[in-house]
Amino acid sequence: MSDKVKFQAIKGVRDILPPESALWNRVEQTAREAFGAFGFSEIRVPIFEKTDLFARSIGLDSDVVSKEMYTFEDYEAAELVELRAAAVTFVGAFGTQEGFVHFTTLVGNFLLAAETAFHAGHIPKTPENERTLQKGRDLITTLNTYRYQGDREILPRVGELKETVRQVKFGDVISLRPEATASVVRAYIEHGMHVLPGNVKLYYIGPMFRRERPQKGRYRQFYQIGAEVLGSSDAPGIDAEVIEMLMRLFDRLKLKGAVLNINSIGDKNCRPAYVEKLRAELQKVREQLGADSQRRIETNPLRVLDSKLESEQGIIEELPRIAEHLCADCRAHYDEVKRQLGLRGIAYQENWRLVRGLDYYMRTTFEITAPGLGSQNAVCGGGRYDGLVELLGGPATTKGIGFAIGTDRLVLSLQEAGEAETSGGPPGKAGGPDVYLAWFGAAAQSAAIGLARRLRDVGFVVELPAVEMKFGKSLGFADRLKARHAVIVGDDELAAGVVTVKRLSDGSQQKLAEAELFSYLRAH
Ligand code: HAM
Repeated sequence: MSDKVKFQAIKGVRDILPPESALWNRVEQTAREAFGAFGFSEIRVPIFEKTDLFARSIGLDSDVVSKEMYTFEDYEAAELVELRAAAVTFVGAFGTQEGFVHFTTLVGNFLLAAETAFHAGHIPKTPENERTLQKGRDLITTLNTYRYQGDREILPRVGELKETVRQVKFGDVISLRPEATASVVRAYIEHGMHVLPGNVKLYYIGPMFRRERPQKGRYRQFYQIGAEVLGSSDAPGIDAEVIEMLMRLFDRLKLKGAVLNINSIGDKNCRPAYVEKLRAELQKVREQLGADSQRRIETNPLRVLDSKLESEQGIIEELPRIAEHLCADCRAHYDEVKRQLGLRGIAYQENWRLVRGLDYYMRTTFEITAPGLGSQNAVCGGGRYDGLVELLGGPATTKGIGFAIGTDRLVLSLQEAGEAETSGGPPGKAGGPDVYLAWFGAAAQSAAIGLARRLRDVGFVVELPAVEMKFGKSLGFADRLKARHAVIVGDDELAAGVVTVKRLSDGSQQKLAEAELFSYLRAH
């Protein structure tokens, strides 16, 4: 007999169980309604994409791309995998005729199969693969000239050849999506949505994946509710309306204590000069900074402003601020966003350190914090990304702005505030079924099946036991399930053309015909 294995969900991912799942459904359904009222429609994008899409959009130096993506090579080349394994795992005496021929035959077999697959398009027809295959051939030729010079000369070449063989790409390198903005923009371009009238307004709901250190409010599979507006207009009223939509959703959900932070991080005209100034200032205080910030001086000085390190806070306060370095256009855009927020009665805090961790942002950035979340208190982040469509090969005139809510955090905050109790779900569901339909005898089961169907069809939640139970056990079970009513069907009821209905809260009981039962259940 095999050992019993007890599986557990892997680190950083979790199950969402009832009744919490009802709250999730309410949150998502409310988002659909709130976003629908602003003319947004749902887009469903794939869970995985080419890694390059994320690398280009989010940026190679971002934490998300540099260390948090779940990435793998996606291929169907089972035969090649075997041939390659045979070649790279071969160990033998390369100085002997036999060993040498064996090894070069294995590599030759692999290269031949790989070249065939390359020409047939079964492995990526990329210039890199072409070069790698050619290099493999050349190395075999070189090896042949070394064959009588003994192991010492040959071994480094063998190592190089094995490495080359390893580098042949069998398929696309793909990643689980760490966010969805890149995918939405890819889909927008791929489907030519720029020809649609006005700005295109899309929302999405679904899981994202980042290999972060798990803690409260931070998971490796987490969920987002996001929205994006893409089109030729970048009017500040769009920024304000997107934020208004978000705040309306939070109002509908009765999320308390949400604080909106906003900033403008300039555009490609004014930001580079600011970044250089920041870098120069950071160089002066380099020694006082932690290792992460020191590294970021070179890679992405803006991210230093994100630092939560206590020892760096005093230094950061003294750094030059982007607000003082915006060009006239960016300044005017930002001022107008603030005025438009005012028109909508939306309170905000300006936060000059709000730079966000993804490279595609420009101009407006915003984040919303909510109570009850500890250190991971950003429940939503977003901003404008006007250059992204062009960067991914779409029209240069297309602008974009959007946000994503961390659903896990939103739900946590609602739970902490006691909103979870009122989560609801279908009526009757939170506390148990409307009806526990107890039947006794074969004829009663048949009648009960029909009655259960008619009750469910008009919206009652009905629990119908699958096997016959003794009366006492059956009614005890109805109690444990917290059913509102037990409806009892036995031979007596069948003969009289009625059912017995018992209200479990007070034990009151009566016999009713089916038509009366429906109105009774509705009223009680
Ligand atoms: P983000 O700030 O990376 O932005 O993520 C948005 C939100 O997702 C965060 O504020 C947080 O609530 C939640 N979140 C992120 N990582 C985790 C995690 N590991 N566990 C739990 N929740 C998490 C974006 O993703 C952008 N795509 C938003 C956007 C859309 N910008 C423009 N359009």
